[in-house]
Amino acid sequence: MNDFLWWRDGVIYQVYVRSFADGNGDGLGDLPGLISRLDYLSDLGIDALWLSPIYPSPDADFGYDVADHAAVDPRYGTLGDFDRLLAEAHRRGIRIVLDMVMNHTSDQHPWFRESRSNRGSARRDWYIWSDRPNNWKAAFGGSAWEHDAATGQYYLHLFTRQQPDVNWRSPEVRAAQLDVFRFWLERGVDGFRLDVYNAYFKDAGLRDNPRKAGLRGFDRQHHLHDMDQPEMMPLLRDLRALLDSYPERYSVGETYLATPAKTVSYCGPDKLHAAFSFDFTRSDLVYPWNPSWIAHRIAARESVFNAAGVWPTTVMSNHDLPRAAGRYSRGEDDAAARMAMALLLALRGTPFLYYGEEIGMRDISLRRREILDPPGKKYWPVYKGRDGCRSPMQWDDSEHAGFSRTAPWLPVHPDFPRRSVASQAADPGSLLSFTRSLISLRRATPALVKGDYAPVAAPRGVLAFLRGLPQRKVLVAMNFGRREAALDLDPAVGMIGRVLLSSQPGSKGMEAGRCELGPLEVVIQEVTA
Ligand code: NOJ
Repeated sequence: MNDFLWWRDGVIYQVYVRSFADGNGDGLGDLPGLISRLDYLSDLGIDALWLSPIYPSPDADFGYDVADHAAVDPRYGTLGDFDRLLAEAHRRGIRIVLDMVMNHTSDQHPWFRESRSNRGSARRDWYIWSDRPNNWKAAFGGSAWEHDAATGQYYLHLFTRQQPDVNWRSPEVRAAQLDVFRFWLERGVDGFRLDVYNAYFKDAGLRDNPRKAGLRGFDRQHHLHDMDQPEMMPLLRDLRALLDSYPERYSVGETYLATPAKTVSYCGPDKLHAAFSFDFTRSDLVYPWNPSWIAHRIAARESVFNAAGVWPTTVMSNHDLPRAAGRYSRGEDDAAARMAMALLLALRGTPFLYYGEEIGMRDISLRRREILDPPGKKYWPVYKGRDGCRSPMQWDDSEHAGFSRTAPWLPVHPDFPRRSVASQAADPGSLLSFTRSLISLRRATPALVKGDYAPVAAPRGVLAFLRGLPQRKVLVAMNFGRREAALDLDPAVGMIGRVLLSSQPGSKGMEAGRCELGPLEVVIQEVTA
């Protein structure tokens, strides 16, 4: 493809480093382990890796509590290992995106230690201190304010109390944080994923949030004053100018409490390149799975992103959500996982593929005493936390699934003797083989990458859409039903042609002019004028 732009036209693969590959046998994934698996990632056909946080961290929130932004946690390796990863990835044409956690730090970060040391500390105003807590709640439960007995004030934390929120209104904080970006840009990092970027600024007067109905304390408020403040826009302009002073750098924001409209407001030529709108992963823990809901969500995002001229992103799974394969299927059948994969890779937007999604990894289930994730500990059994989707990558059927030589930090899913990279690589009918074929079809088919999206009228239970450029269109059809289905295309739109890919080898839909779908089948077909 000419004018290929990696972050727009490529596939970005999320590596949750501590669960991907353990190089030194301590039960935690690390950078040398990741380097040893780069050939696998290259064969899969991905274009970039987003690494979940690799910085020194006491792990109150598993890396999202950063104690030093400009270093690598010794458990993951060294800065030298990181440079080697960068060089080895670049040699294979793979870009590296780092996770930047800039809304808060660890309470063990030297900035916070100094800030909390006394009220007169030079860094007191690097965090948000108050004599009186307002009504804000922490996303992981309880008040967002923690009393500091030594200095008699409260500090703000939107997540755990070990993650104090920094005060982006301080010019020194702003300069120090931008220096962190510069540090990694100078090392050659290609882009950044910004953790909860839209919460950086809080209302200057710390006004109470209005109340609303909801399940947890955090959901019972309109988040009017603790996020989405106008001061974010000038900051994004400064950040973008910094990124643009290097060639082809990228930023993607994790929009907190995302909607398509909110997401696009932060993107543009002088703001973020892209941001997550999480269209298929609702935050209320209900994940509907039917063609009309999905078609509705696609239409909503298409109209908003198109009107704003912003390039969308597609996410089906990540380290905060139950994995898509398990959300939509019971047992080990992968038909629904194939459909989710086809959506991820055939919609308009940059696909973010979560490690293990390509082999349909399922969440592990843990007993209460095994739960590590803070919100899981707090809300169990109503909400069991996020450990389930963070289990070790299943490489093969050897002990610990080839992830490590020793017992890993979280248990391996017991299905690993049947579900692994090794077993699926050898099987042309596997989800891994389907994913590889989809990625390579996408790469070879500009209509699937850059083409417009247009819904197609389909029988009940079928989702169908066209991705098209004027010269070439393709039809993507998915049968959510357990009976066969067929689809006709209005001749004014075009003629259905050759099958380019089917989730069921030996698919019937070979006949030009018609699209025939088996139960739970996904077909991608050419459309001729
Ligand atoms: C969003 C991250 O994705 C999540 O894992 C983390 O717990 C919170 N931000 C706090 O950093």
